[in-house]
Amino acid sequence: MTAHNTAAIGEIADRILLPGDPLRAKYIAEHFLENAQCVNTVRSMLAYTGSYRDKRVSVMGTGMGMPSMGIYAHELMEIYQVKRLIRVGTCGSISERAALRDVVLAMGSCTDSSMNESRLPGIHYAPIADYSLLKAAQETAEAMGVNAQVGNVFTSDKFYNEHFDALMPRLRQYGVLAVDMETCELYTLAARFGAHALSILTVSDSLLSEEQCSTEERQTAFHSMMRIALEIL
Ligand code: HPA
Repeated sequence: MTAHNTAAIGEIADRILLPGDPLRAKYIAEHFLENAQCVNTVRSMLAYTGSYRDKRVSVMGTGMGMPSMGIYAHELMEIYQVKRLIRVGTCGSISERAALRDVVLAMGSCTDSSMNESRLPGIHYAPIADYSLLKAAQETAEAMGVNAQVGNVFTSDKFYNEHFDALMPRLRQYGVLAVDMETCELYTLAARFGAHALSILTVSDSLLSEEQCSTEERQTAFHSMMRIALEIL
């Protein structure tokens, strides 16, 4: 048990889905898992454990941004011995390659956060996805006929960034597909703790065209992402 998570050791499975929104975690538990029990409510960061087919699976919100992801992911790996973690989140597209409703499989993440700079002074660390999860996700998406783009994402500390208009074309030029706020920290900590992690993201908005998904489109895209995540977790 920790200050942020009152689940007992053993109440969290060694495989976990990580949406940003704790109410998404509740939705996933209620709609995708069998016999799901709520195992954490501290700060309303809901966590559930149930099963999917023959696998024992947990799901927990992470909150928004790297510091929040960092707290939960660190404790899940260090205290609860979680070994496989899949972020199921959203991202804003900055590339024509990632259209609205597409799935983005984050192969790597660059960032404007200083969290890794303080961990590894002087080093521009390259946080990467677990290769076996990435490969399985790409193959599963292809078999399901889901458009999944594999590539780099930018994990930003800021949702509202007044300099983003200048930055976006450069990021795009260097092959970055989309922006989120958590992937970099998840990948860094998974490497630190020897766990397997992948971020599967649906494009919820385009920062190129300023289009946004309707609620219904968001739901369909969310279901594709969930099918891939549960299949490979
Ligand atoms: N910026 C950062 N994170 C996001 C966005 C965005 O535009 N959309 C979804 N997650």
